Amino acid sequence: MGIHEENRRLEELDRRYIWHPFTQMKEWVEETPVIISEGRDCFLKDIYGRWYLDGVSSLWVNIFGHRKKEIDDAIKEQLDKVSHSTLLGLSNVPAIQLAEKLVQIIQKALPLTPPLGKGAGNPSSLTKVFYSDNGSTAVEVGLKMAFQYWKQKGVNGRHAFVSLKNGYHGDTIGAISVGGIDIFHQAFGPLLFNSYKAPSPYCYRCELGKTSPECSLACLGELDKILYAHSGEIAGLIIEPLIQAAGGMITSPPGYLRGVRELCSKYDILMIADEVATGFGRTGKMFACAHEQVQPDIMCLSKGITGGYMPLAVTVATDDVYNVFLGEFKDLKTFFHGHSYTGNPLACAAALACLDLFDKEKVLEGLQSKIGMLDEWLRELLTLPHVGDVRHAGFMAGVELVRDKATKEPYAWEEKVGWKVAYHARDNGVFIRPLGNVIVIMPPLSISGENLKRLCEVIRSAIMSVSS
Ligand SMILES: Cc1ncc(COP(=O)(O)O)c(C=O)c1O
Repeated sequence: MGIHEENRRLEELDRRYIWHPFTQMKEWVEETPVIISEGRDCFLKDIYGRWYLDGVSSLWVNIFGHRKKEIDDAIKEQLDKVSHSTLLGLSNVPAIQLAEKLVQIIQKALPLTPPLGKGAGNPSSLTKVFYSDNGSTAVEVGLKMAFQYWKQKGVNGRHAFVSLKNGYHGDTIGAISVGGIDIFHQAFGPLLFNSYKAPSPYCYRCELGKTSPECSLACLGELDKILYAHSGEIAGLIIEPLIQAAGGMITSPPGYLRGVRELCSKYDILMIADEVATGFGRTGKMFACAHEQVQPDIMCLSKGITGGYMPLAVTVATDDVYNVFLGEFKDLKTFFHGHSYTGNPLACAAALACLDLFDKEKVLEGLQSKIGMLDEWLRELLTLPHVGDVRHAGFMAGVELVRDKATKEPYAWEEKVGWKVAYHARDNGVFIRPLGNVIVIMPPLSISGENLKRLCEVIRSAIMSVSS
């Protein structure tokens, strides 16, 4: 079979057998799928040999580009030892080494702040690492830990959670129960547990009709009201620190995150920071919580942890949380949760190599000038007639397109404006994936200044041609 016939066959088999995530398959099977066969640095190559700049880090996971030698080597080395053994009843070397390394990194990035009142957040530190496989499971683990924590403390009735409108924490039932994106989550309503939804700190479309900073963070006042009314029922609050990613790259105003931590402490509620998207340098610091010196009680990490190589996640808990699970065997205080591939040695080896590279290549230091470039470019974009808002936290950026800039009237969902921009960019060698009308820019942290410039230029011309 010739190479072209083989490619056509792959396309046909994809249409016949693969059900793609978050994809209307009726449309998908009418198109020719782009099938990736290779990657190098910040680029992906399809089966026809066309290269694409990976503008969304292969769904926000990639840090050092594809085929990073040190990570490749670490996985190969681990392959010669053991690929998988379980953490249920056994331990393994890379999982232990990674847990130590993670705790060290977290302690360096998030030093203990002085007690913020007599809340559940003080005075312990994040030292206990619970492994799972992806962002959604890291969140499920966090929610279950928080729920069981109160039960075992003998506090009854703490069954509910607080989360934010426009929040996204994954696609499993617990994660969508605390999710706040109607288009994704509403269909599953009857399956979900109770979660009180606080306003999103979405200043461009403030649901309280206020303007920042004159509002003095009025959305925190609304959160305070919810906690005041329901604190006796609430096990925990979950938040994407600094930026609500899948909700449309919604950045919170300065002081908001710190304010949320203070309210959790005031009402004695566990704070769960979902750093699945923001962790590992994405916002310019190792963790988003570091921007406002916040230490959560439970922290969920995944995506960048292996540099974008393998599925791995951790839920890190404070000693205070962990200690409540200690008891006699007969007490049934065990945390009854675990997955087959928990603490997978290959994934942990990849993560160890990735974290070493952060130091070796001084990733965070090198990132700052590129964040500056991105910031400057985003500001220029604001002059375009259909760019309503631009937002970024470090290297996570969103450009919100609007039909009418003066009234902020959005494009209708079904117009697929974001997708049209993405297709245009793809025809010009850049792969991006929008969130509705928001164009997402989230390249690997290692992208060169030159490639970043190219990414921005292609996106700018795609926006101009689609929305003119
Ligand atoms: C903040 C946040 N939490 C959780 C998740 C879910 O992660 P996963 O897709 O690995 O399940 C995501 C995914 O985008 C995310 O952005």
